[in-house]
Amino acid sequence: SSLKSNLNNTNDLIEIMKKSGKKAVVFYGSQTGTAEDYALKFSKEFQSKFKIPTMTTDLADVSFENFENIKNEIPDFQLAAFFMATYGEGEPTDNAVEFFDYLKNECDDLSNLKYICFGLGNSTYEFYNEIGKKTVNELNSKGATLLGNLGLGDDGKGSMDEDYLDWKDNLFDLIKDKLNLQEQTVKYEPSIQIIENFEIPIDDLSVSLGEPNSNYINPKSENEINYLKTGPFDHNHPYLAPILNTKELFNSNSRHCIHAELDLSNTNLKYSTGDHVAIWPSNSNEKVNKLLSILGLTEKKDLVISLKTLDETIHLPFPTPTTYETVLRHYLEISGSVSRQFIKSISQFCPNEESKILIDEISNDKDIYHKTITSKYYNISDALEFISKGIKWDNVPFSFIIESIAKLQPRYYSISSSSSMEKQTIHITAVVEQQKIDETYVTGVTTNLLLNIKKNQNKDDDSLKLIDTFDLEGPRNKFHNKLPIHIRRSTFKLPSNPAIPIIMIGPGTGAAPFRGFIREKIKQLENGNENLGEILFFFGCRNSTEDFIYKDEWIDYSKKLDKKFKMITAFSRETDKKVYVQDKLLENSSKVVELLDKGAFFYVCGDAANMARGVQNTLVKIYQNEKKVTQELALTMAKQLRVNNRYQEDVW
Ligand code: 2AM
Repeated sequence: SSLKSNLNNTNDLIEIMKKSGKKAVVFYGSQTGTAEDYALKFSKEFQSKFKIPTMTTDLADVSFENFENIKNEIPDFQLAAFFMATYGEGEPTDNAVEFFDYLKNECDDLSNLKYICFGLGNSTYEFYNEIGKKTVNELNSKGATLLGNLGLGDDGKGSMDEDYLDWKDNLFDLIKDKLNLQEQTVKYEPSIQIIENFEIPIDDLSVSLGEPNSNYINPKSENEINYLKTGPFDHNHPYLAPILNTKELFNSNSRHCIHAELDLSNTNLKYSTGDHVAIWPSNSNEKVNKLLSILGLTEKKDLVISLKTLDETIHLPFPTPTTYETVLRHYLEISGSVSRQFIKSISQFCPNEESKILIDEISNDKDIYHKTITSKYYNISDALEFISKGIKWDNVPFSFIIESIAKLQPRYYSISSSSSMEKQTIHITAVVEQQKIDETYVTGVTTNLLLNIKKNQNKDDDSLKLIDTFDLEGPRNKFHNKLPIHIRRSTFKLPSNPAIPIIMIGPGTGAAPFRGFIREKIKQLENGNENLGEILFFFGCRNSTEDFIYKDEWIDYSKKLDKKFKMITAFSRETDKKVYVQDKLLENSSKVVELLDKGAFFYVCGDAANMARGVQNTLVKIYQNEKKVTQELALTMAKQLRVNNRYQEDVW
């Protein structure tokens, strides 16, 4: 939409490229922002290295009507690049759906097009990088030419960044050759201009301090007030949900798991059991202050700055005017592990010769990088401080920071309430991420924010020590005990017929959606459904006294559901030998097969990399033993369950 307004109301890709003088285009199909982030970085580097004006766009923001004519319309057109994320079970991201429709139904001939493609996927899922592969197949079938190889980024192995660097470095050599390009030294050229406004006070109402829906800071009309309540709520328009109730689910001094209830009574925002809720976090005081400090911005943190785009095809990533602190607190992903790519690109702004030598040594060698940076879980400010030995990096342009650091993204949680039982509340169940590495903690943004809110709401929590603290009042107090949210629909759903049995496997916070399912079942019973199918729930945790979440509730549920409900627990740290949900599943082989033969749905929620794989392997073993079939046939049977939508996963 901002593209349209910048360029005379057109969203025709060719028209925009012609008007803005672009000779290459980078598309992204992104769900959570990662593909977008890689696309932007690629575009910036490509443009700078080969001096080719390059446009970057969301696939859904432009129309492809005249795409087939690109070579004729833009005679020195060079290249199209695609950064394509695979979502869920091999599905395209929402913003890529129409593009695939176009390729399938409206596009005949792309034989003029040279392109490259990087897929973002996760090898712990079955349909690994399906959408990257599909993009290449479809484009090739229209005669387009892929340069180099399809890049395969793997989030499952945590190697996305290295996969990208490998792919990109090889590719740059190749396209330089194939497209006959001249290489320049990469020098940072800002696409955004930052203007410091010494005359505007921070409390001026035009200044954005990170309020969600900042166009509506001061709603002017009835319509605008309604919009804040009625949505539709999505990525661009979250609902600011009050947090009603929070409690600790663990019984431990060092580990925390928060149950929180979000209030929907003042909005028409709806969810259904099994959906995910997106929560928009802000960064902690500690993280924000540390980065402000190492960038030499502490004194200027409240200075009002205006942003102006220097490239008419780019839209600003957040509202302006704003302040340095607001940008770091509300809009940039500053807490996670720093990437080698970022370290490489910031090396041009090293504060002294010594750090320049060190940064080159570190950033040009994967292994050294891993040893000095990744294995210590350094975030951006940790790494900068380490490299310069504490000397301020005060000549890094702030536009570089904005353009090089990924945008802060919402975190998704499996909803642990039932939309039939609690229509106006969303429950979430979240383990607080606080991992001690050497002497410091690696902390999760949203979960530590929740812990702060919990401490704030429960005044008897004096003994609770916080590692990260947050500004809970938020901009102009609007955040007080509230969090911006929206709902992501999921396909993780109960069978529509209540008589069908269900088997649920959810260790740890993998229990969250199953608490919702069970509450839904109780509601079905209360509604007069006498013929409920059996409910078998496998839960696992370390031991029965510390992290057995909702311990009393399960007893209550089993009373209410009587013989229909059976819970089987696996405690991994109560005996010498670890006991996992898979072990319990195997012990109950005959019951599991009996229910599956009756048409049961099989659900797995929790850790993707190990647990979910382990469970699938166990099910194969169970079929093998119980049905006396070969491993191959047993595997086919398990796969068939998936095909029939009776094997559902909600894993991360
Ligand atoms: P552990 O941490 O003692 O190894 C919830 O996190 C529970 O899941 C814990 O009891 C944890 O055990 C267990 N768990 C860890 N890895 C697992 C795996 N690969 N499969 C199943 N459960 C696992």
